[in-house]
Amino acid sequence: MPPNDRSSASASVTHTVETAIFDAASGGGNDNHGWDELIEQAVRDNVRSNADVDWGRFNSQAYFDHNYGKLRDDDREIIQVVGDFFARATRGKMVGSAIDVGAGTNLYPAMTMLPYSSQLTLLERAHSNRAWLLRELPEPHESWLDFWDEIREGREHYRPISDPFYVLQERARVTRGNVLTLEEDRYDIGTMFFVAESITTRTDEFQRAVRHFVRSLRHGRPFASAFMRNSSGYYVDGVHFPACSIEEKDVRAALAPVAKNVTISVVESNDLRDGYCGMMVATGFKR
Ligand SMILES: C[S@@+](CC[C@H](N)C(=O)[O-])C[C@H]1O[C@@H](n2cnc3c(N)ncnc32)[C@H](O)[C@@H]1O
Repeated sequence: MPPNDRSSASASVTHTVETAIFDAASGGGNDNHGWDELIEQAVRDNVRSNADVDWGRFNSQAYFDHNYGKLRDDDREIIQVVGDFFARATRGKMVGSAIDVGAGTNLYPAMTMLPYSSQLTLLERAHSNRAWLLRELPEPHESWLDFWDEIREGREHYRPISDPFYVLQERARVTRGNVLTLEEDRYDIGTMFFVAESITTRTDEFQRAVRHFVRSLRHGRPFASAFMRNSSGYYVDGVHFPACSIEEKDVRAALAPVAKNVTISVVESNDLRDGYCGMMVATGFKR
């Protein structure tokens, strides 16, 4: 953590401790001893809730340059899984409105849903990322062409779209929002890439994010979600952001109450940064 982050880290621990106290109280516990333990645990673990993080400090261009300035092999593999799944799940039909949750500076999840969606919500909590997306849609970076070629290769449903960036700009709505308060039963297809585990250190918030995402879809609708595996957090332009360290079993457990026919694929990846152990992609349908 850079030195100038220390004051915000201690403020975040204070906030988290308050949250822990509130959680303990609303859980019905009136045992002071339990609260003390919770507080000590939160301080020891340096817990950071989603609300503790100043998302306005997310440097969009630095994140884009590092992650999506060129097409990487791990993204290539994720595209294979997601492109094939959506083709099978929709049978090439237009299903309705789509959502990409926590879009950040990543256009390719939305691009995989283009043939199937008449409207695309790009939901983002960070103002910096919403502003970046609004600038990016009319003037996309060249690297997205390589992502599109990879998506389209061998998949007939994408062929009729001759100008994907025009179609994306026409259909996309950049929207301020929070995955933890998403409205239920609203969308017909959805993606959420590297969000649930990369916005908090808290397992309960990771689970809530996964479940709110899936619940935002209508009954039986398909989704794809990507996760960092065993992530210890990440830096964007020197600012530290939290992560919840998860594996396949955690993704499966988070999805179990809300999704059916779930498949989880592990994607090899080790050179994006330190402190993670590959990626995972989950596909399935809302229960
Ligand atoms: C690691 S980035 C992933 C961005 C992008 N989806 C990708 O594939 O690279 C996490 C994203 O989640 C956003 N985010 C943080 N808290 C959120 C929340 N409560 N609801 C929705 N998005 C959130 C951040 O602003 C950031 O864009």
